[in-house]
Amino acid sequence: MKTYETLAIDVDPDGVGILTFNRPDKRNAMSPQLHRDMAEALEEIRYDPTVRVLVLTGAGPAFCAGMDLKQFFTELGDKPAEYDKVFRIATEWRGRTLRYFPKPTIAMINGFCFGGAFAIVEGCDLAIAAEDATFGLSEINFGTFPGGAVSKALANLLRPRDALFYGMTGRKFDGKVAADIGFINYAVPAASLRDEVMVVAREIAAKNSHALAATKDGYHHSLDMGWDAAISYANVMQDSLTLRQKGAWQEKGIGDFLKGEFRPGLEANPGLRDG
Ligand code: ACO
Repeated sequence: MKTYETLAIDVDPDGVGILTFNRPDKRNAMSPQLHRDMAEALEEIRYDPTVRVLVLTGAGPAFCAGMDLKQFFTELGDKPAEYDKVFRIATEWRGRTLRYFPKPTIAMINGFCFGGAFAIVEGCDLAIAAEDATFGLSEINFGTFPGGAVSKALANLLRPRDALFYGMTGRKFDGKVAADIGFINYAVPAASLRDEVMVVAREIAAKNSHALAATKDGYHHSLDMGWDAAISYANVMQDSLTLRQKGAWQEKGIGDFLKGEFRPGLEANPGLRDG
């Protein structure tokens, strides 16, 4: 895989790609270069067959300290075209690209997670944090609001009272609270974070990749549809999945169950991983 100035990417033999924001000295704040790197890396990983599940995390004590306040807001302040270009890339990769990424994504939140980083967490399918990770909507503390994709990320995931409480106070909260308010799946002690995430990632990496992509698509697109359109879309997607798998979920999935070879309620059919 290509080398990136602000990222490190490793892929393990089970198909788990780990993308690490790699500006620890700046608490992995999202500089314009990091946004450009992310857009390019996600495009590369999208088509890399060795990556089945993507984990996003940060180097050092931070997951991501939000937008790079100096390089983005200050240094691009008098360059409207460049500001607009970076803003568009920044919004696209955290919002649409991650949301509709054809492979499962997991945010592994190892430390500080502020402001614009909430949109990364929300864009990922799953999020698991260290219990002592620090989250905060700090925008209010420097006199602004959760702009860009962040307000929508809050609206998508949080209950109104929590979104407005943390948005208006700027109070920080830890991984346990992030789980309690539904911003992440769950939190674990920092020392076991990586192992825990890898167990989940490998479990998902062993499932059928077409079925995983359909699971994401069905969920995300249904959110914006009425009931009739959602059912119609699901029916079309079912046909499309059958085509892409060449009928495998019926023949091997249901077929092997009927032969008594496995119980889908309790385990996956290993022969369906790549089919
Ligand atoms: N943008 C630019 N630089 C940053 C950012 C950021 N968001 N966050 C940290 N840095 C830089 C610091 O300026 C410092 O740089 P320096 O060594 O050149 O002086 C370096 O990272 C280390 O930061 P410290 O504050 O010394 O680290 P510490 O571990 O004590 O604190 C913390 C970390 C809590 C993350 C603190 O840096 C902070 O409050 N950062 C801002 C977080 C924030 O409000 N993010 C923006 C949200 S709004 C948005 O994203 C739109």
